[in-house]
Amino acid sequence: MKKTFDTRKLYFGFPVFFLGYKDDTYGYNITTSSSAYSLGKMMVIAMRTKGGAMTQIKKHGQFTVNIPDQSLLKEVEVAGFNSRKDKFALTGLTYTLGETVDAPLVDACPVSIECVAEEFVEFGALTNVIARVTRRVVEESLIDEEDAFKSDRFSPISYIGDGAGRLYRYYNDESVKMGSIIKQLREEEEKAQPK
Ligand SMILES: Cc1cc2nc3c(=O)[nH]c(=O)nc-3n(C[C@H](O)[C@H](O)[C@H](O)COP(=O)(O)O)c2cc1C
Repeated sequence: MKKTFDTRKLYFGFPVFFLGYKDDTYGYNITTSSSAYSLGKMMVIAMRTKGGAMTQIKKHGQFTVNIPDQSLLKEVEVAGFNSRKDKFALTGLTYTLGETVDAPLVDACPVSIECVAEEFVEFGALTNVIARVTRRVVEESLIDEEDAFKSDRFSPISYIGDGAGRLYRYYNDESVKMGSIIKQLREEEEKAQPK
């Protein structure tokens, strides 16, 4: 039986990432976030309006989404529990500048996405940024001989929990090809049809 679950928040598994941005005080900076989704050429992120990251992104209109794996959990926490500090200096992470945006790509992250902001939409104390993806960068070991992304090899950190507490969860090695199940169901349906 299900019951009404009263909580301030319920995060059902969002990938952790470093938001990279140009920073008037420190040159370039990062902030940990878990609020992003991408559909085709669109990237949407959300951050607290008054935080350092959103203040800078509103000024410069560009950012990067950098996805770490579990080896970078310490850096994730350092960049997520320090506000308006120089988080490249604090974490020791290094960066390379984007090719299509004036924002940093975190070298240690296997996947990075360059984005140009198109719209800012406020929701209470939060701001959503609707952006255009202008370039994607992927570590070579995650690209196969046919230039396709090795989806079964990439393991982001998943952020899950409620108002009482939140966890980082890791992926296991299981995967299922999208469309394979519907294909099988349709084949079975066809076989079952009277000729
Ligand atoms: C795993 C994790 C996920 C986070 N996700 C978000 C988020 O989606 N939006 C947000 O505004 N802050 C998020 N934070 C909190 C910010 O990283 C934190 O407030 C940070 O100190 C803000 O720094 P800034 O003010 O320099 O941008 C997250 C922190 C952690 C550790």
